[in-house]
Amino acid sequence: MDLRTLPDDLAELTVVPSFTSAGYRLRRALYAWDDPAAWSLAGRVVVITGPTSGLGRETASSLAEMGARLVLVGRDAAKLDAVRASLAPPADGAHRSVVADMASLASVRRAAAEILALEPRIDVLIDNAGTMVPAREVTEEGHERTFATMVLGPFVLVSRLLPALDVAPSARIVAVTSGGMYAQALPLDDLEYEHGTYDGTRAYARAKRAQVALVREWATRLRARGITANAMHPGWADTPGLEASLPGFHRLVGQWLRTPAQGADTILWLAASPEARGQTGRLFLDRRARPFDRLPSTRLDRVARAELWDRVVRLTGEPDPMARTRRSGGQA
Ligand SMILES: NC(=O)c1ccc[n+]([C@@H]2O[C@H](COP(=O)([O-])OP(=O)(O)OC[C@H]3O[C@@H](n4cnc5c(N)ncnc54)[C@H](OP(=O)(O)O)[C@@H]3O)[C@@H](O)[C@H]2O)c1
Repeated sequence: MDLRTLPDDLAELTVVPSFTSAGYRLRRALYAWDDPAAWSLAGRVVVITGPTSGLGRETASSLAEMGARLVLVGRDAAKLDAVRASLAPPADGAHRSVVADMASLASVRRAAAEILALEPRIDVLIDNAGTMVPAREVTEEGHERTFATMVLGPFVLVSRLLPALDVAPSARIVAVTSGGMYAQALPLDDLEYEHGTYDGTRAYARAKRAQVALVREWATRLRARGITANAMHPGWADTPGLEASLPGFHRLVGQWLRTPAQGADTILWLAASPEARGQTGRLFLDRRARPFDRLPSTRLDRVARAELWDRVVRLTGEPDPMARTRRSGGQA
């Protein structure tokens, strides 16, 4: 037993203390964390989705303070411009914004092409955009909106940006997931919630579980190329998204919610810290790898994860990205 980590291990067994600001403050004091401002990203290029609100906005602001050059990816051009104008200037060049609706694969493909034209090398890709949809909606392309936004769109974005991630010496992919996924299993034969009574919270949790399973697959498949992929969950943070999607919960937990900076801390740690270099295929909360499951019934083994990968490839209508890209960045 490691006595130093014992308070953290005990907190991890719980939900309420662990996910609230109390959990963050406990771990920050226990491990005497460095401030993110101590890490430099001067000269590095970071692509981030969902930078116009909440955790993404906080993360973008901190990354800019660290000197990174940002590509802000969001669905609203005016909001993107406002965020871009508020950021500290990068150590070199200029921050960019690229419009993409993550729920639209056509839009993500266009955005990816635009990003590749702007930045031939990407050091960090942060998949942060997320949404909870109260009633089942189908996009123009025929996909359930939650799954399209948090699984299909990000999968296409990573796939299409691989040539630029390959150019970086040790690129990092960071996916922002949710502890809500712990409560739900993923039905591989009903990824888009076509059966049963739709429940927005459940659809969200399932999509987040799929996102994490795919991160593990990316990590395995990209390991030899020097690209790492990790997921993190922020606990419960006071953001416009949380307040809008779960107003009752937001009122109930109220003052115990994390600040956006506390929620974003592990995103920044995974993106920029020397300690996170080389770590891959894991799920983090508060700078420490955590279990993928709290219930045995939610476990997706290697075979199930590979099946999920194949199903997602088919749903995107794209060739398998691992068959398409090579280290040179060219098309095979
Ligand atoms: N806050 C928490 O306690 C908590 C807990 C667990 C997980 N998370 C996850 O953390 C991430 C950030 O959430 P948040 O709490 O910061 O929420 P937020 O304040 O609602 O921010 C969400 C961001 O995602 C963007 N977005 C949503 N749908 C999009 C789409 N179809 N295309 C492009 N961008 C889209 C939003 O853009 P607009 O500004 O245009 O709406 C916004 O920038 C999400 O993945 C969320 O699931 C948050």
